[in-house]
Amino acid sequence: MSDFVNNFWSIYVTAITLGGIIGCLLLLYLTARKKVVPSADNTTGHVWDEDLRELNNPMPKWWMWLFIITSVFGFAYLAAYPGLGSFAGKLGWTQLGAYENEMAKARADLEPLYAKFTSMSTEDMAKDPQAMAIGERLFMNNCAQCHGSDARGGKSFPNLTDGDWLHGGTPEKIRETITGGRIGIMPPMAAAVGTPDDVRNLSHYVLSLSGSPHDSLKASLGKSKFTACAACHGMDGKGNQALGAPNLTDDIWLHGWGEAAITAMINNGKHNEMPAQKDKLTEAQIAVLASYVWGMSHKDGAVRQ
Ligand code: HEC
Ligand code: HEC
Repeated sequence: MSDFVNNFWSIYVTAITLGGIIGCLLLLYLTARKKVVPSADNTTGHVWDEDLRELNNPMPKWWMWLFIITSVFGFAYLAAYPGLGSFAGKLGWTQLGAYENEMAKARADLEPLYAKFTSMSTEDMAKDPQAMAIGERLFMNNCAQCHGSDARGGKSFPNLTDGDWLHGGTPEKIRETITGGRIGIMPPMAAAVGTPDDVRNLSHYVLSLSGSPHDSLKASLGKSKFTACAACHGMDGKGNQALGAPNLTDDIWLHGWGEAAITAMINNGKHNEMPAQKDKLTEAQIAVLASYVWGMSHKDGAVRQ
């Protein structure tokens, strides 16, 4: 209500609300005053459809009282809570305040639980069954819609269990990814590569890097064009985690493989985004999630970063 530029709507709403309740009470009062002269057979004298008569029974008392109590409750409620235009109510209750109280209470309830984890290293937390159970919950609620409930990802959404990292798989890097999000940008490169044939040949060269099915003649023709890609993917094609440029030699494809997929990457580029979680999750929740994610790619004890 406080968003209105002037008082008109506030007064309008107040008048309709109060007018409604007062109108109801007035109606009750006026009808109660009107006495129908009773007749011998206790009818009002009103006859219709030839022989239907209206009995003159009074309204039940409980109904009258319910009506009055409801009206009194209405006035009391409107005095205590916001309801009359921009009047805030005597209790000072707001929807936002109620939400914030609940959130603060939930945080306070969870704090002792998370306090245990904040002093633990990522590696230790990954071995703690309680931390991993919480991590799994958090993952299902916040991450599974993109990375899949088994965290194996899908097209354009990276697999988090395979030890292949766009941005780095150390505990610190994973935590950084979750906290601040990541944007992976590959610019359209066709102009730097040359003709459509050059692009196609280069695609075969890229496929040859991982030993994926390719045409070796086209690959050898495309090899020299890879210099346009080296700045990000490295001369050897092994990628650069600082830029989020994937390793092209490992036969793990975020956006699909084959001539058509790679040609499309070179022609159109890609803008891929992992949303930042720092405003959604607390630092402790992010720490637990980072251990959960780190743990998934270190299940067999192998150190793969
Ligand atoms: C809206 C979809 C979306 C949601 C939700 C999401 N992610 Fe991501 N995530 C992505 C995308 C897309 C990327 C790849 C970014 C890129 O291409 O650089 C990514 C990348 C990552 C990476 C980096 C992987 C690597 O190879 O370096 C990690 C770790 C990660 N996400 C963890 C999480 C966690 C944990 C959550 C839950 C809190 C989460 N993500 C929620 C879409 C999402
Ligand atoms: C400015 C840096 C940059 C340059 C230059 C660049 N790339 Fe990329 N490339 C990226 C990034 C970043 C990604 C990951 C996009 C994402 O996060 O989804 C990517 C992704 C790819 C992929 C998809 C890999 C997969 O797993 O699906 C291919 C293929 C690729 N690049 C090929 C090339 C080729 C070929 C060239 C040279 C013509 C090239 N790139 C030049 C930054 C670059």
